[in-house]
Amino acid sequence: MTSNEIRTRFIDFFKERGHAFAPSAPVVPYDDPTLLFINAGMNQFKDVFLGKGSRDYARAVNSQKCIRVSGKHNDLEEVGRDTYHHTFFEMLGNWSFGDYYKAEAIEWAWALLADVWKLDKKRLWATVYQDDDEAFELWKEKTDIDPKRILRFGEKDNFWEMGDTGPCGPCSEIHISLGDDYDDPKQVNAGLESCIEIWNLVFIQYNRDEKGELRELPKKHVDTGMGFERVCAVLQNKPSNYETDVFMPLIEEMKRLSGAPYKGKENQTSMRVAADHARALTFAIADGAAPGNEGRGYVLRRILRRAARYGRKLGLKDPYLHKLVGVVVETMGGAYPEIVEKREMIEKIVKGEEESFNDTLDRGIELFNRLAADLKKRKKKTISGDDAFKLYDTFGFPFDLTRVMAEEEGLAADEKRFEELMTEQRRRARADAKSKTAGASDVAEGLGDMELTDKSPTVFTGYDELVTKARVVGVKRKNGETLVALDKSPFYVEAGGQVDDHGVLEIGKERHTVTALAKFEGIVLHAVEEKDAKIKPGASAIAKVEETRRRRIMRNHSATHLLHAALRETLGDHVRQSGSFVGPDYFRFDFTHFEKTSDDDLRTIEERVNEKILANLPASHMRDVPLEEAKDSGALMFFGDKYGERVNVMKFGDYSAEFCGGTHVGSTAEIGLMKIVGEASVAGGVRRIEAVTGDGVLRYLEEREREIAERDARIEELQKERRKFDKKLAEAKAAKTADALPEIMSGAIEIDGVTLYRGRVEVDSMDALKALGDRLREKITRGVGLTAAEIEGKVMMACVVSDDLVKEKLSAGKIVGEAAKIVGGGGGGRPHLATAGGKDVSKIDEALAALDEIVIKMRG
Ligand code: ALA
Repeated sequence: MTSNEIRTRFIDFFKERGHAFAPSAPVVPYDDPTLLFINAGMNQFKDVFLGKGSRDYARAVNSQKCIRVSGKHNDLEEVGRDTYHHTFFEMLGNWSFGDYYKAEAIEWAWALLADVWKLDKKRLWATVYQDDDEAFELWKEKTDIDPKRILRFGEKDNFWEMGDTGPCGPCSEIHISLGDDYDDPKQVNAGLESCIEIWNLVFIQYNRDEKGELRELPKKHVDTGMGFERVCAVLQNKPSNYETDVFMPLIEEMKRLSGAPYKGKENQTSMRVAADHARALTFAIADGAAPGNEGRGYVLRRILRRAARYGRKLGLKDPYLHKLVGVVVETMGGAYPEIVEKREMIEKIVKGEEESFNDTLDRGIELFNRLAADLKKRKKKTISGDDAFKLYDTFGFPFDLTRVMAEEEGLAADEKRFEELMTEQRRRARADAKSKTAGASDVAEGLGDMELTDKSPTVFTGYDELVTKARVVGVKRKNGETLVALDKSPFYVEAGGQVDDHGVLEIGKERHTVTALAKFEGIVLHAVEEKDAKIKPGASAIAKVEETRRRRIMRNHSATHLLHAALRETLGDHVRQSGSFVGPDYFRFDFTHFEKTSDDDLRTIEERVNEKILANLPASHMRDVPLEEAKDSGALMFFGDKYGERVNVMKFGDYSAEFCGGTHVGSTAEIGLMKIVGEASVAGGVRRIEAVTGDGVLRYLEEREREIAERDARIEELQKERRKFDKKLAEAKAAKTADALPEIMSGAIEIDGVTLYRGRVEVDSMDALKALGDRLREKITRGVGLTAAEIEGKVMMACVVSDDLVKEKLSAGKIVGEAAKIVGGGGGGRPHLATAGGKDVSKIDEALAALDEIVIKMRG
């Protein structure tokens, strides 16, 4: 049976029993911030279990793409060392949503394994939760399993939980013995390759809440999960999952790439790691994740780096993982078309990431080897936390990589100290961020010893008004600055990329310019510059935000939302915001994308945004709503981002919905227009767009116009200069041509009372040749001159005859016409000056020499 047949058979088996097929959810859980990756088939039904959502069906079946790399359900470092754990795997599952319960779940599971697939009943085990007598009895009643093979286990093995919170319940598992002593119950749940769990039937009846308490759910559900790769190994009679047709094409490719055999623990582990990790990366990237520095991205980075390192063990020094992507696509693209579609992008991302890791890896390995050698020399056993941190900070070694490498050298690594340094680094990063926000040094110091008459957070009125009547609740003077806290304020303090507002506080008769703002523990501090401000707590104040500037900021902020939506629409769902700056003059928007945005795409994006601006979409701002409600509104959520319990959501029509606490226009037409003014790379995989809006576009155009006007003026100047140079050049040329005169004059011969002048000259135009002729003519009496030049591969000739000879009917036109015949051309003109052309430059001298004969003949 092929793996594809096994998958289909499972699905069909449950379809025949009234289950609806529900396609696999993406491995990236876009709407569940409690989860790094989809780790079980039931994730997409979490809302149904919790009683918050419903489906059109009460029974479902599917094959779900899962990734388990950290946290509750897997350990990355184990993958590849054994035969049956994976980072990425498929989970076959059937579900009941408040419909059937334990009896059917048990009966059908047994029927499929024992009757349809005919697994050896002597080798199967059933486990139940220690207190679950009901399940125990149902196994006896509904199946023909040998009752000795039904075992009870505690919470660790037979109580299944999705994560720290979420739906959970007792479970009943089916294990299979693969070795000879299949009757020994001690092998079950012992972590042996010879006895593995293949199917887990979970009886969901609780929700674990944030406090860790179990709450009974309104209904009881069934959630099952079968390890697809494991079942394939069992049904295909293979010693490991890696030998099934799911993995073998990948292992084969690794053999080919490395030239190494799939033999021996070391090679096998390396090839398994490569095969497994290539699958995880392919599916995760196809579903919109990307290697990065945080959260999910960091997990992917670790997976990739681990694979790269194992590749090296096989002698693969150059990036190789991207070459496995195609193999994954070929083996699994049928069941999961998304990887076929995204293949090129996945290969590109994987290759780029591996390349940059290889560079640092080389240098890191060097450092590590030096450290290890040094430790051994000094008879020490532990890599210090400081060194591990350096390997992390400078060379990108995750701690577990350092640990694995250390273990290989018989060394340990100091994790505690490493963690301390990590915490310290995070603290520094936060402090940096804060002082940047604050602006003025005194503000950055925080509330300090400031006395507040009202300690509740400053109410932000700036969504609705720019002028607010407020009361001073605290004042502090320091270094010539006065910090004023108000009960409410329309001043926006930098957050989410949007800069601080400018404006004034009017207190009594005084007007104080606000020079800096900061927010501590919810209290907004307004720094004013007057050294002697006599502001007192309790005074009433009018806080006024500078309106024009703020409106510009709002236009830019709203435009970032439209841009974000247009980017995702045009470039794909992998695009997500990774930073922004929203000021009054322009905005910057950083986003994940792996290549330069093409000019065509940029134009489309710009057009799309402006379409939405002109469509005048209404803005609606949901303020301080529960996270759940915000999610229902369809707001974009990004994994790895932390969302509070209560959030703000900004919507523009149906086009854009984002979590945002910033200030925005009332409807999109207020933005006026948006113009992209720049696109560039910020870091690997991150691009930046800069743009202007509203009167910013006008200023941008004025600037452009000014530049164009300046350029025009400059062009005119250059043209003038050019004309000057042309004239000079012509003069210089004429002078140079005139230089040829003496030679022509000196070579004169006299025949029959007529002096003949001739010369082959270097000039670049017929005009120059004529000019030369004119000058010659001025100098001669009773003379005929014939000059010739090669100009652009052709022959040009000019002939002059002095007036006295013209009177005697000698004609320059006729002479030159005759001469031109020799060079394969013709010409003519007036009697005193005529020109001609010809093709045969090799005959120029011959034509000049013929002047004697021609004149003699004509005088004849
Ligand atoms: N949700 C259960 C598991 O993942 C079936 O094992």
